[in-house]
Amino acid sequence: MKLANINPSNFNYDYDQIEKDKINFDYYSKYYRLHTDAILPTKIKIDIDLFRKEIVKYHNLFRQWGNNRNYLPRYGISLVNYTGDIYGENDIACSPLDQYNAGVKKEDHLTEFDFNKKTELFANLKSLDSLNLISEFMLRSNILLWHKHANFIPHIDTAPLNNYNLRLWGTDDPSNYNFYFLNKQVNMDDIEPGRIYLIDTTIWHWAEAKADWIYTFFISTTNSIECFETIKKILL
Ligand SMILES: [Fe+2]
Repeated sequence: MKLANINPSNFNYDYDQIEKDKINFDYYSKYYRLHTDAILPTKIKIDIDLFRKEIVKYHNLFRQWGNNRNYLPRYGISLVNYTGDIYGENDIACSPLDQYNAGVKKEDHLTEFDFNKKTELFANLKSLDSLNLISEFMLRSNILLWHKHANFIPHIDTAPLNNYNLRLWGTDDPSNYNFYFLNKQVNMDDIEPGRIYLIDTTIWHWAEAKADWIYTFFISTTNSIECFETIKKILL
């Protein structure tokens, strides 16, 4: 950088640009007004008994989750992906997106907003009907299946910035699940099987299965004004 004249009277302000910066401060406030805690229950509740029966016919269409940590039994099937297809050779929605982007050229990078096609699971699994409350806003979303020791190591998924999505989460079996935000363990006695929670993934978090056959509902949504309003209305 070049040397500068640091006298304030010498500075030529661009007030249009300064005004535009406010969008970021406003969004940041709006984000944390909605995410008043790391994990917040919503009205959405998946009928777990029905879900466990219905998902069996799709067991042969689950995929290994990404290919970076194949020593763990982590699988997924898309609810919302890039094409709406769950039968193709590859489904890039069934992997960590940062890992996918690391393997392709910058101009081919994808964001969660590129994944907006619902798969047939949405129509065929009646147990998922309660997701209709937010279905119009859903982006890349998956049902994860974990066996014992499967995990996500500590990470952050989103930021309180305009170009990031929102995240929701639930599991069928909280008693066999470890979930941490920062250094605090989520009290799984407070978590209802099948209940969908708004989660704040701007916070460091990790998760782990303590037993086999644990499902996680892994949902992302747009961050539109309408989506914020809808989620605000369905928080319990
Ligand atoms: Fe995460």
